[in-house]
Amino acid sequence: ANPYGTDIESVLISEEKLKQRIAEMAKRVSEEFKDAEEDLILVCVLKGAFYFLADFSRMLDIPTQSEFMAVSSYGNSTSSSGVVRILKDLDKEIEGRDVLIVEDIIDSGLTLSWLMRNLKNRNPKSLNVITLLRKPERLTTNIDMFDIGFDIPNEFVVGYGLDFAERYRDLPYVGTLEPHVYSD
Ligand code: PRP
Ligand code: MN
Ligand code: MG
Repeated sequence: ANPYGTDIESVLISEEKLKQRIAEMAKRVSEEFKDAEEDLILVCVLKGAFYFLADFSRMLDIPTQSEFMAVSSYGNSTSSSGVVRILKDLDKEIEGRDVLIVEDIIDSGLTLSWLMRNLKNRNPKSLNVITLLRKPERLTTNIDMFDIGFDIPNEFVVGYGLDFAERYRDLPYVGTLEPHVYSD
């Protein structure tokens, strides 16, 4: 299927590579939490992380419960300010539970820094983060990560959950867009 015609410039990470790396990440997380008494809670940060969460959770060898959170950062849209508003909160309390935040991409890291502080205040037993992608050049805050799928260059990427104006999330790979997409 090629729903977006000539919009894609290049495939940065293929479907195959994503699958392979996510399986490795799932193995590590399964190993880490295999003796836990209660189910691991996965916190999906909407919307970008939902494809990753769906594939990742199904590759784990341990039971999990998924929770969804939607946040939006105040300020202008091109650079996040680090001040975040909760649009949709978790349905459950996480006090005393093992919690793993699942993100699609860490860009400036401001969204995640805020989220970690917020969830930590709810006194989980443990709080970890995994992200599929990270842009090391852009990172302004230092965040301790459980695992990172791929470090990528500071380019605008779409697919596998990542959007441009809400489009392209449904591509099975991560890629870059042709310049005409931005100028049209
Ligand atoms: C994107 C991405 C991360 C965040 C990373 O979400 O999915 O959640 O930005 O940016 P940061 O590290 O600079 O804070 P976005 O706000 O675009 O919402 P979306 O997931 O619904 O696309
Ligand atoms: Mn997001
Ligand atoms: Mg987005």
